[in-house]
Amino acid sequence: MSKILAAVAWPYANGPRHIGHVSGFGVPSDVFARYQRMAGHDVLMVSGSDEHGTAIQVQADKEGLTPQQTADKYHRVIATDLRHLGLTYDLYTRTTTRNHTLVVQELFRALVNNGYAVPHKQLGAISPSTGRTLADRYIEGTCPICGYESARGDQCDNCGHQLDPIDLINPRSRLNGERPKFVETEHFFLQLPALSGALSRWLETRTDWRPNVMNFSLQLLKDLKPRAITRDLDWGIPIPEPGWRDNPMKSIYVWFDAVIGYLSASIEWAWRQGRPNAWQEWWQNPQARSYYFMGKDNITFHSVIWPGILLGVNGQGDRGGQPSPLSPLELPTEIASSEFLTMSGSKFSTSRQTVIYVSDFLREFGPDALRYYIAVAGPESQDTDFTWDEFVRRTNHELNNEWGNLVNRSINMAVKYNGAVPTPGTLTAADQQLRQTAEQAFTTVGQALERAHFKEAIGEAMRVVSLANKYLSEAEPWKLQDDPARRDTVLHTALQTVQDCNTLLTPFLPHAAQRIFEQLGGHGVWAAQPEMNEVSEGPEGLSNYPILTGDYSQQQARWESRPLLTGQPLAKPQPVFQKVDEALGQTGPTWAPINAD
Ligand code: MF3
Ligand code: ZN
Repeated sequence: MSKILAAVAWPYANGPRHIGHVSGFGVPSDVFARYQRMAGHDVLMVSGSDEHGTAIQVQADKEGLTPQQTADKYHRVIATDLRHLGLTYDLYTRTTTRNHTLVVQELFRALVNNGYAVPHKQLGAISPSTGRTLADRYIEGTCPICGYESARGDQCDNCGHQLDPIDLINPRSRLNGERPKFVETEHFFLQLPALSGALSRWLETRTDWRPNVMNFSLQLLKDLKPRAITRDLDWGIPIPEPGWRDNPMKSIYVWFDAVIGYLSASIEWAWRQGRPNAWQEWWQNPQARSYYFMGKDNITFHSVIWPGILLGVNGQGDRGGQPSPLSPLELPTEIASSEFLTMSGSKFSTSRQTVIYVSDFLREFGPDALRYYIAVAGPESQDTDFTWDEFVRRTNHELNNEWGNLVNRSINMAVKYNGAVPTPGTLTAADQQLRQTAEQAFTTVGQALERAHFKEAIGEAMRVVSLANKYLSEAEPWKLQDDPARRDTVLHTALQTVQDCNTLLTPFLPHAAQRIFEQLGGHGVWAAQPEMNEVSEGPEGLSNYPILTGDYSQQQARWESRPLLTGQPLAKPQPVFQKVDEALGQTGPTWAPINAD
């Protein structure tokens, strides 16, 4: 049994999430965590809402709210969606907690003490019309390295280089198009050049990373410059240094604070468990493994900046230093990033994107249809377009006609002929072959999931489903009225394979898996679901906010073929999946209609 940290990217609390967001960080991380728990590992899955920085402030201005009110509002909305999607966080919290502030300031101080965070003067952008600081991501211009015209002030999405707004050719505000004014300001800089030796040595040990993540990271390492980790902004964590702490116009950069959330959330989880040191089993244990899930635009911060922070805090950079009281902190084992899901809605409308919100989607189609689509047709290794047509095909022709139908007809026949799980006789070659395929799938699907290859994993599980359907069509148990012993063997073989497929599909389709488990005569919790609790932090902290958590240790799902209990009574099953209207493929739903253009 290993300790496995599933570290899931923190969504900005500046609005409801759309299906693109949850296809990047949400569904992949949960499939992975559920699989690892079923395989017997001790998983800690943490995340929360990312609530500081310009993105929240801009939204607050739009709505006439304070940034905290905005974060309160959307944290609740997002947590509710993630719960309905069935994402099994051990803790989904937020970055405006007191706990998070204290942990961030602790790490910041450790970097300052060790000489990896140093103040410097630089030119910062302000908006001439408002006098306010313009955050890097709200400045756009031409990349000085590759010439891409829509590079952002913090990074060029075309060549991947980190930038400073001052480097941009022809800079302009993305908010109103005006040219920013650059004025002198002082900030703390993360001394990445002093960490690059240690970072390279560490990256060299990451031999099994995906090539895109590895190449991207190696590229970044080639020219690491000091990077500002504070901002001229009044919405963020105060800088814990004399002369800075009480300046309300300066705060820690949102990305610096957000990545530390993985650690602070683990610490919060531990004290909520009543075992305040339990987080160390994942963070200070070289045997523990950590997997970080995110969209590709987050790679830099996870594969270079966050490891750099950790090395500096541990005193493991070129300048050495004192380990912080939280050290030694382990660096990421794996960065599981996905590409982008675009939402044109139809292959005929590519220019006009419709936003498909998670809450609308779940209300109409339920969580497992979305989870299935994302797993089987999501942007795992290339940018991918969501279309309603494809959704109809995946839902009706795969989920319903293949898997739903196999479950339904197998159980129905056993109910009709036996009223219970039949007892098998001697297996024929065909029976044995199907059983063997199903049993082997635990290895092949498991290995794919281990490597976060979700499409391969679900494809392999669905292949067993197809073979089981084919087996039933060929064995024709409905024609075996004169040979009930053979019929019992066929139905038992089919039902046992249904049970195995249900186990293989549980990480992907946990809600359906629970119902199928019950239809096969199971009792109790097969696949656990998260719960939403209202909590407070105590004195000086946040009060009355929702978190997601759950007790996943009691669930029965194990990554193995579990023999059916022969003679177990069975009742006529209700269909587990619902077909969607075929017309949806042409029209889209009313709340996200297809605009032909
Ligand atoms: N809020 C960021 C985004 O939506 C992701 C932050 S991930 C974390 O792109 F690591 F910083 F938490
Ligand atoms: Zn560029």
